[in-house]
Amino acid sequence: MPSIHVLNGPNLNLLGSREPAIYGSVTLAEIEAGLRARATALGVDLVFRQSNHEGDLVTWIQAAGAAGEPVILNAGAYTHTSIAIADAIKGSGARVIEVHLSNVHARESFRHKSFISPVAEGVILGFGPLSYDLALEALTSGAQRKKS
Ligand code: DQA
Repeated sequence: MPSIHVLNGPNLNLLGSREPAIYGSVTLAEIEAGLRARATALGVDLVFRQSNHEGDLVTWIQAAGAAGEPVILNAGAYTHTSIAIADAIKGSGARVIEVHLSNVHARESFRHKSFISPVAEGVILGFGPLSYDLALEALTSGAQRKKS
């Protein structure tokens, strides 16, 4: 069964209690459970992870790229700062869909810049936990990979 890696960055472990006006009340465990149910129905295996450490995300992206397995990535605040994560995506050839719960473009200007977007296949943001489901749909719908 093919695997899809769902990688979550810093502070996403706090979902449920973290700034609920922005991120809602759903926990990361609940997002994982919902996504697992959809993945099982679609016949795909999920590797679902979270880390507050940039290097963990780099290592996991490299591993997914080496295995030829796609990634749904919410890099949290590293989205706006991490050249290392962008390099890992580019260097490993990992197929990545960037996701965000919030519409980062409707927030502070420092969230408007993403180092991930230029090396991602697509970006889904602003739909809360549904952003993850839409990314799974994109990866499993047979949509053509777009090369830049
Ligand atoms: C986020 C948006 C980021 O700007 C923020 O730092 C996060 C969460 C989102 O899912 O909306 O940690 O990636």
